[in-house]
Amino acid sequence: MTATARAAAPRGLVAPKLIAADLAVGKITLLDFAKKAGRNIFSVIPQETLTQTYLKGPAKMHYVCDPEMVTELLAGAGRRFPKSDFTRNVIGAAVGNGMILSEGQKWREQRQRYAPLFAARNLPVLTSHFAETGEELADFFIRADGEVDVADSAQEATLTDISRVMFSGNEAVDKRDVREGMRRFTDYIGYMSLFDLMGLPKWVPRKKWLKSKEPIRSLRQLARSVIEMRQAARHEVPEDFLDLLIEALESDREDIDTTVDNLLTFVAAGYETSANTIAWGLYLLAMHPEVQEELRAEVRQACPEGPITFERLPTMPKLLSHIRETLRLYPAGALFARDATETVTIKDVTFRKGDVIMFPVYSLHRNSVLWEDADTYRMDRFLDRKYPRGQYIPFGDGPRICIGAQYAETELMVLMASVLRRVRFSMSDHPVQPPILTFTMRPGGQIILRAERA
Ligand code: HEM
Repeated sequence: MTATARAAAPRGLVAPKLIAADLAVGKITLLDFAKKAGRNIFSVIPQETLTQTYLKGPAKMHYVCDPEMVTELLAGAGRRFPKSDFTRNVIGAAVGNGMILSEGQKWREQRQRYAPLFAARNLPVLTSHFAETGEELADFFIRADGEVDVADSAQEATLTDISRVMFSGNEAVDKRDVREGMRRFTDYIGYMSLFDLMGLPKWVPRKKWLKSKEPIRSLRQLARSVIEMRQAARHEVPEDFLDLLIEALESDREDIDTTVDNLLTFVAAGYETSANTIAWGLYLLAMHPEVQEELRAEVRQACPEGPITFERLPTMPKLLSHIRETLRLYPAGALFARDATETVTIKDVTFRKGDVIMFPVYSLHRNSVLWEDADTYRMDRFLDRKYPRGQYIPFGDGPRICIGAQYAETELMVLMASVLRRVRFSMSDHPVQPPILTFTMRPGGQIILRAERA
């Protein structure tokens, strides 16, 4: 499956072959898992997960791709199963006691405290920041007028979005410091130690802790000073996420360390995920030039000029369907897991206390039992069509569903619309590498496309 995808086929010919992950062929032992997963978790996910809806993995692992089982485990009988130790070991040092890893009452309190921040009524404020970044990204591509690494430029853009909405308006903090701090921080999260994957106790030192102490400490310090400074000089009317965060904390206080944990959780969960979705979305459109023209026409009709506004987003249903199809084929959260804390039987499969339940979203979204032409891009797959619950879960499901899902969809719509309106993308001669999976799924290297003014 390492076929390199290049030129797109004109309409009417066979659909172009898209780059896909290299999943594991043959039996995977626990030792294979420990040896290989640190570099790329895809290398230990069995290829059979693409053609079967349930598979028993090594030791206590299960791979679940059956929509009813997925729903029952995430939103039904298994909804209280905690995040897997495996996840905790990978990102725990970075996001501490933030929402993504808390459990029980601690998690409930944080989820309730932060839910209003992500509420739909706050999205218009955030959209104006996203639109500014979108225009800058389009300017960048037009200036480049030739080959560009869209994976890198998308990261720069979503990093700018995060520093605008979460660390903004603070003259004492240099934007470049924020970006550099965040880049080092997410590089750290992306690197998984073998010990983490094996779940060795915390007292066994990890090489990455030596490497990472500094970026984590300095980003935490930066986040803390940004919160404190803004608390001292608040805007009358909330202008960004930080204002909203401080407003939420005023009515329901938490200690500053937990707030810092959560700010970093939002960086960790929200920057690379969105960036990579943009990069894959542009790649898919370079592979399907006729769809790209159709989307450009839709955006131009909806928003001929000026910043893309929140109110205009519902008038671009094809673009939304494209983004959903991008998240089907290249889901940034390509795998997540739970540890069973009691025994449950669902559709004749018994998950025992202590078992590790893997949700290989990548395989679920491309499973040939569930999807017609599973590996083929179809922009209209999500236009006026709903799928059974549990079959499409780019943001998870149940109580732990992604709190940033609407934030992410809004950001993706605005950035994609701003760019597509003014820039045309086509494939270059540079091969695109298969995606790899660490904390999130990311491109296996650069994605070099040709960009020109449209
Ligand atoms: C395309 C973008 C994104 C994707 C694909 C994505 C995917 C996911 C998935 C699959 C989960 C559930 C994991 C599980 O059940 O174990 C999750 C949880 C979470 N996401 Fe996202 N996410 C995205 C963007 C964001 C953004 C922008 C933010 C915040 C600014 C965010 C914050 C979170 C948080 C805090 C959680 C944990 C929620 C909880 O445990 O209660 N995500 N995300």
